[in-house]
Amino acid sequence: MAEATRLRKRTIEDLDIASRRVFIRVDFNVPIVDGKITDDTRIRASLPTIRYALTRNATVILASHLGRPRGHRCDALTLRPVAARLSELLKRPVKFAEETIGASAQRIIADTKPGNVVLLENLRFHKGEETNAPEFAEALADLADIYVNDAFGAAHRAHASTEGITQYFNEVGIGLLMAAELNYLGRVLDDPERPFVALIGGAKVSSKIDVIHNLVERADTLLIGGAMAYTFLKELGLPVGQSLVENELLETARHIMSRVKTRDISFELPVDHVVTFKTDGSGANEVLEVDNPAIGNRLGVDIGPKTVEHYSSILAGASTVVWNGPMGIFETDVFANGTKGVATAVAAVSGTTIVGGGDSIAAIAGLGVKDHISHISTGGGASLEFLGGRTLPGVAAIPDRLADKSV
Ligand code: 3PG
Repeated sequence: MAEATRLRKRTIEDLDIASRRVFIRVDFNVPIVDGKITDDTRIRASLPTIRYALTRNATVILASHLGRPRGHRCDALTLRPVAARLSELLKRPVKFAEETIGASAQRIIADTKPGNVVLLENLRFHKGEETNAPEFAEALADLADIYVNDAFGAAHRAHASTEGITQYFNEVGIGLLMAAELNYLGRVLDDPERPFVALIGGAKVSSKIDVIHNLVERADTLLIGGAMAYTFLKELGLPVGQSLVENELLETARHIMSRVKTRDISFELPVDHVVTFKTDGSGANEVLEVDNPAIGNRLGVDIGPKTVEHYSSILAGASTVVWNGPMGIFETDVFANGTKGVATAVAAVSGTTIVGGGDSIAAIAGLGVKDHISHISTGGGASLEFLGGRTLPGVAAIPDRLADKSV
């Protein structure tokens, strides 16, 4: 699946967009606090596609969701601040259409000369977006001549603007960001340079179960951190105290570890950890080996220094690294050392490195080493679903080049 996706999808570069109206679905779902954008990474990530369309003198019509307003207009989730930020980044005016569809949006677009940008109001102010209603998809399609999906972060949603809309255009393709995401993530699944090391963290095994299953079949080494390690450690009979364990997944954990043996790959769990009574960092904490029963009724909140050293030495020999998920309670400073430690190690890898997930990306950004990472994925849920082997509806809706040629 991924191989086909990576090589065949039609991109904006295959389309004749010159001087035409191009609807570009972007993922501008950025954090906004008191009307201020606190992280504009996703806006920046769309700039190559927008700039490309502008160099072809297209009329660029951008559409995105923001938050989860569930079909209602809501001031806190307007995309207006995003239009302002985009205008600063592009160093040119960006028109903002208060209405996502209909006569008013049509008029603004008709008044926009080719080579200029219009951003539509939040798609999710309309119920039809999330229900993938044909009439909403058609109303969006009425605004443009060509459709481009650059919203990798929303590609796992079968919504009107990501899926339904494609039926109303003859010319559709993916944007440059989407192409880069599919290329990097697709290569990891199809043809990674080896050794391929996957570093998986986060609180729950359940949230990444498909990813782990899929990577066990493809990686040479899996390094596990974060609270999800405790389900595996408990299954191995180690003392876990009050650590977060998903008891219903103990059997799954056993199957994963037995599959790892069959495949003869390495599957590493923490050898030491930081334990405490209090997850907010206000109490005393101690580093223990994971087999030390002195954990008592405390819980594990971070990997320990020996684990950081061990994982770092494995990462140092990797040619491909995928990292998703923190090694401990990253938002609490005193429990962020494990995540920061592996972030340093991932940034030092000379091969291909791909990082996804809010905390992992924040750790990389906090260390100022973003430029050392080959690809930082803009997709949270979407990259997990892709790495878990699922087909993304927003990608599946775009025909591949071979199919187009045969028509
Ligand atoms: C994300 O932030 O992961 C995407 O923008 C998708 O948002 P959603 O989970 O609200 O669909």
